[in-house]
Amino acid sequence: MKKEKMKKLLILAVAVILVFSLVACGNSGDGDVVTYKAVTEPSFPPFDTTDKDGNIIGFDMDLMNAIAEDQGFKVEYTALGFDALIPALEAGNADIITAGMNAEDPARQAKVDFSTTYYDSALVVVVKADNTTINGFGDLTADMKVASQIATTGADKADALAAEGKIKEAVILDAFTTCILQLRNGDVDAVIIDKPVAESYIKKQPDYVKTVGEPEGAESYGFAVQKGNKELLDKINTGLQNMIDNGTYDELIAKWF
Ligand code: ARG
Repeated sequence: MKKEKMKKLLILAVAVILVFSLVACGNSGDGDVVTYKAVTEPSFPPFDTTDKDGNIIGFDMDLMNAIAEDQGFKVEYTALGFDALIPALEAGNADIITAGMNAEDPARQAKVDFSTTYYDSALVVVVKADNTTINGFGDLTADMKVASQIATTGADKADALAAEGKIKEAVILDAFTTCILQLRNGDVDAVIIDKPVAESYIKKQPDYVKTVGEPEGAESYGFAVQKGNKELLDKINTGLQNMIDNGTYDELIAKWF
């Protein structure tokens, strides 16, 4: 009788251990999901911005999160200066750039690898709402100061105009928001910025600034990874195509634009 009881207890104990080890396995499976570090510069709505609590949000994050879910990885976002994004990847401090970054730039392509592009864009001139003299790139003159964000395609354009003597000075600032502030204060005559970002700003605050003239310098945004990180790039490209095919991409466009 006693032996029987011992046997039953033993079987119970083994069963309990088995159940626990199975549960533990399930958990460790979850813990195996890779988390990639993404970096962005969040003064660039609707692509990259922050909410009231300072969380990094935007079209880029929603799209990357959808890709990550589809491909079974996770992403954590950190804010950096736009000029620090590529160096962060090069130094191995980050895995992905999600920053409305023009992928069709040979200098960048030499340093990082870009995904398939996900948004076509171009640069525009932004001036004060009551400005009547500047009606496009062609009206910028040798006495004018023009602001743009550091290390961006807009900054390249402003620098080029200054080098050609077509404007007096390219004022290169940390954030797009600072550029607009300087414009509103009258410190600069114009800002050069990506068209969709200018339009999103003006939609929210229509009274202060406006875009003028025809856009220039067509570009396309891509996500960047470290040079040679084919494994991650393949996941991003596959996930991106899946998001386009299953309608998620269009839903996010409708949500953010
Ligand atoms: N599209 C421009 C570029 O590639 C500007 C991007 C700025 N992005 C940002 N998150 N601030 O240079």
